[in-house]
Amino acid sequence: MPSKSILILGANSDVAKAAIARYAARGCRIVAASRSIGELQSFVDTLPQAGQVAVLHFDATDFGSHRGFYMALPFKPQIVLYAAGFQVHNDQALVDFEGSFRMMQVHYAGAVSILNIIATDQENTQLERIVGLSSLSGVRGRKSNFIYGAQKLPSRSTSPDCGSICSTEK
Ligand SMILES: NC(=O)c1ccc[n+]([C@@H]2O[C@H](COP(=O)([O-])OP(=O)(O)OC[C@H]3O[C@@H](n4cnc5c(N)ncnc54)[C@H](OP(=O)(O)O)[C@@H]3O)[C@@H](O)[C@H]2O)c1
Repeated sequence: MPSKSILILGANSDVAKAAIARYAARGCRIVAASRSIGELQSFVDTLPQAGQVAVLHFDATDFGSHRGFYMALPFKPQIVLYAAGFQVHNDQALVDFEGSFRMMQVHYAGAVSILNIIATDQENTQLERIVGLSSLSGVRGRKSNFIYGAQKLPSRSTSPDCGSICSTEK
């Protein structure tokens, strides 16, 4: 793969860190963004290609900050990975709306907010792909975590829209 410009959101998750390491090893330049930037920077510093990775603060639930965050990026991305996650146990989520609401904000509303800004940036003609992480729980409802699963369902139905914007307009 030729070196690409990558933006990873919610970059402290294990899957995001694995993606950072793989993209970096392929010569890509990366912005890794999450809330716990100290932890994220410590991970990045372990990579031989640490110099290719910029660590920035990003809060998926701080919707008002998203446009400014995107505009201040050191480069506009070709590939975007949204990996932010937050889960409350189903039994707790049933009685704790704040916890349920936070899950909705991190998994869905935050993704819609920042990814729509990215997908509709007409100036970024390099944008190729926006990747969101769904879950089997969003494909087939499970009694044990149906509240989480319900938030993963929309990401399956909205991602094709992003795909068509990227492939047809960009
Ligand atoms: N783990 C699995 O088995 C599995 C299976 C299927 C799908 N998934 C999906 O894959 C994604 C990652 O899952 P995971 O289990 O690896 O991650 P996770 O532990 O649930 O969380 C991933 C990261 O999201 C970041 N995050 C949380 N709230 C945030 C916010 N408001 N703004 C920005 N970042 C935020 C956190 O880092 P900071 O503290 O730095 O913000 C956290 O390290 C999730 O979308 C999850 O639903 C996971």
